[in-house]
Amino acid sequence: MTVKRYRLRIPGPIDLEPEVLSFMSAPLIAHYGHDWVEIYTETVTLLKQVWQTKEASVFLMPGPGSVGMEAAIASLSGDTHQLLVLTNGFFGDRWVTIARAYSSRVSVLESTWGRAFDVDAVEQALKRDREIKVVIMVHGETSTGVLNPLREIGALCERYGAVLVADMVATLGGTEIAFDDWQIGIGVSATQKCLECPPGLAPVAVSPRAWEAIERSKGPGWFVNLRTWQHFAREWADWHPHPVTMPTGLTQALRFSLHNILEEGLSQRWARHWEIAALVRNALKNLGFELFVPDDREAMNTVTAAKGHPKLPAAALIHALKEKHQILIGGGLEKLAGQIFRIGHMGPTATRDAIVPTLLAIEDVLRSVGIAVEPGQGLRAPMPVMGS
Ligand SMILES: Cc1ncc(COP(=O)(O)O)c(C=O)c1O
Repeated sequence: MTVKRYRLRIPGPIDLEPEVLSFMSAPLIAHYGHDWVEIYTETVTLLKQVWQTKEASVFLMPGPGSVGMEAAIASLSGDTHQLLVLTNGFFGDRWVTIARAYSSRVSVLESTWGRAFDVDAVEQALKRDREIKVVIMVHGETSTGVLNPLREIGALCERYGAVLVADMVATLGGTEIAFDDWQIGIGVSATQKCLECPPGLAPVAVSPRAWEAIERSKGPGWFVNLRTWQHFAREWADWHPHPVTMPTGLTQALRFSLHNILEEGLSQRWARHWEIAALVRNALKNLGFELFVPDDREAMNTVTAAKGHPKLPAAALIHALKEKHQILIGGGLEKLAGQIFRIGHMGPTATRDAIVPTLLAIEDVLRSVGIAVEPGQGLRAPMPVMGS
């Protein structure tokens, strides 16, 4: 049976360049030995540059982003540390679930979906409970399109002596991150979003201070325990610097994409994503949609979420884009199911070429249900200036 193809404007995975995909059909190579170690080590080195870290150890775990999430928690749990999980969305809630699966010492700070975390509220929580030694947060909450204040919470954690674990699955490679300068303890990402690869690898970065906390913890697990990864990186460095068999084609695809990302330039990339996000936000507003993140300053530059139009429910828009225009966008998750739609603009889909046809298709769907919209109306909104 042939699988129908759609243009992927969902928040990951995304449409990829053929050169990246070609690695998936390249002849298999061995996941050990001199040649392989060169490829693996170079990929890790490039990832460090994207993360802007000189100090962290970086690992490439086969699996989805969630395996990196589980590894961070497993390595820091074992009931040694009190964990505080911040959640304002579906993926924050997933961190809560994982934390509770591994530890009985979990506190949760919830905040409104669609609004960024209030740094003062986090500080109050750290003041109230001086036992908290690990704080867990999502940088870009893909389920709502909110960007949480990573840099500020990193500084707080430093002041209160806590290790910050940050989910950068939807931001690494698209949004500014300075791992060392922002005092991040563990960063977790995934290949299928702004890193411009198919799904299947979870990059994990661990700071020296996070290692101290990991060493003190008696966290369980083998594959998901980062101590295992550190052991192989050190002891088997010259022929098999990871504990398991690696997806070698995918790793080569990642290496290729990372070169492209760095060649474009990190700040140029962040600006490109910002400009496309501004274009999408303005266009949707101009077409009569209410954005799910009301404050532009709290919005991700890689995902935009909006509520259904008064005359066009979110589900009907998603369905019409798929059936009439062969464009896939995302829907709402859990309590937002049926209420919002989400557009991903990441890597190659954070371009006018990828996004303008999506916006024109949305206009077409609006017209098809009797809403008066002129062609290109969404694109006529004035563009805000970055930093204003
Ligand atoms: C912010 C965030 N965290 C975690 C995940 C989980 O990633 P995966 O589905 O690769 O396990 C996702 C996936 O969309 C995400 O957007």
